[in-house]
Amino acid sequence: MTRTVYYTATSLDGFIADADNSLSWLLSRQVDQEGPMGFSTFEKSLGAMVMGATSYRWIRENGGPDPWSYTQPAWVLTHRELEPFPGADIRFAAPATPEELRALHAEMVAAAGDLDLWVVGGGPVAAQLAEAGLLDEVVVAIAPVTLGGGAPLLPARVELVTREVAQNGEFTCVRYDVAR
Ligand SMILES: NC(=O)c1ccc[n+]([C@@H]2O[C@H](COP(=O)([O-])OP(=O)(O)OC[C@H]3O[C@@H](n4cnc5c(N)ncnc54)[C@H](OP(=O)(O)O)[C@@H]3O)[C@@H](O)[C@H]2O)c1
Repeated sequence: MTRTVYYTATSLDGFIADADNSLSWLLSRQVDQEGPMGFSTFEKSLGAMVMGATSYRWIRENGGPDPWSYTQPAWVLTHRELEPFPGADIRFAAPATPEELRALHAEMVAAAGDLDLWVVGGGPVAAQLAEAGLLDEVVVAIAPVTLGGGAPLLPARVELVTREVAQNGEFTCVRYDVAR
């Protein structure tokens, strides 16, 4: 069964981007992508993905020469007209109510098949899914840094159950189930 998984890296004080929308505090750090809760393993479980407009724009602006490397269908939540990547399966949507979000989520789950739905971020997208009862799991890689401000990890009240804790390189990785 498809699980909806918010998988991200965060600062110790709960920010996924700094106040300048930069990830420089994160991308320079040592991590083993094949190690505990590493992205290489996680990627194999992905059937579809969803992200917000800021995250999508970050990929467009900072992703390098081949910025869109994903083959899975992807949804971007936005009120704006954003430029697609040629050839990529990217769908833009603007669910205005929990009911609309539920209907959209059902589409994403159907597209994921037997695999999982990756909530890429940011916090507002994860929070809307959690508040609609649609988030199953949160996996965080906590970087050994505090930022003092920036884009919040998950700006909602969400009760979690700790399932797994591991060190991977410089990161402390934790897997939580959303409590139901
Ligand atoms: N640390 C990590 O691993 C990691 C992972 C992912 C992202 N990031 C970074 O974290 C930052 C996250 O930015 P963010 O907090 O602004 O979050 P975001 O979720 O990427 O973007 C939020 C924007 O998405 C749009 N949106 C969200 N829900 C919507 C809805 N229901 N309908 C229509 N539009 C909707 C809105 O933009 P509009 O209304 O303007 O369209 C909203 O302002 C980015 O800099 C990103 O690069 C870091």
